[in-house]
Amino acid sequence: MDWGMQNRISHIIRPKTGRTVMLAVDHGYFLGPTSRLENAGATIEPLLEYADALMPARGVLRTGVDPATSTPIVLRVSGGNSIVGEDLSREGITTSVEDALRLNVAAVAMSIYVGSQYEHQTLMNLGNLVNECERYGMPVVAVTAVGKDMVRDTRYLGLCCRIAAELGARIVKTYYTDDFHKVVEGCPVPIVVAGGKQMDTEMDVFELVHGAISEGAVGVDMGRNIWQNDHPVAMIQAVRSVVHEDFTPKEAMDLYNSEKGK
Ligand code: R5P
Repeated sequence: MDWGMQNRISHIIRPKTGRTVMLAVDHGYFLGPTSRLENAGATIEPLLEYADALMPARGVLRTGVDPATSTPIVLRVSGGNSIVGEDLSREGITTSVEDALRLNVAAVAMSIYVGSQYEHQTLMNLGNLVNECERYGMPVVAVTAVGKDMVRDTRYLGLCCRIAAELGARIVKTYYTDDFHKVVEGCPVPIVVAGGKQMDTEMDVFELVHGAISEGAVGVDMGRNIWQNDHPVAMIQAVRSVVHEDFTPKEAMDLYNSEKGK
């Protein structure tokens, strides 16, 4: 692998553990001012030191993140849809590779919508983005987005992840599911998992992260289950403990409980 590409990926996936805690804060690109991300800068600030990488779109990056940060940025570059729009899958590339380079990011991220009305468009977006990014040693993270009526099962997510890797994504972000190891086995590049909507309990989150790591994910790209928690700093520390130190869900819960009181 080219030195620049490898260097950028090493900033995201920590070489010491081979794992990563990416903090996703890109939700506003189609959800608007999501709960607890209304003032994104204020939400991000205390969490930034615990994130191996931060995933915003460029508006939040420019307005809510200190440019002196040493935390690598994975920049969301796709969009063009909204929760009140025609179809969530109708995405294009909204941020140029030139701007990503100017923002000095470690990777760019975009969504593919396999099985949706705009499947072809989003897969071509990925292929074209990879073609351009490879020229500059810029990794592309493919997000396997799931439509409202789609089942997030092993077969479907396995299909999405493999297609993303085949088209050249260097990292794939997907959802945890039963038999997750089968999704990992069918995907020749590292996989990170999203958290999804806030879960009922912290223990549910730690079990998801622990399951994903045990079955081969290299980490998480998680948002709401961290910053919608009442104790986000304790939460990200506990998630880190599972990802980087192989804590069990119970040990992570104990860490969360001791940190939330501080
Ligand atoms: C959705 O497509 C966004 O890209 C989020 O980054 C992603 O869903 C991860 O965030 P969460 O853990 O809140 O689901």
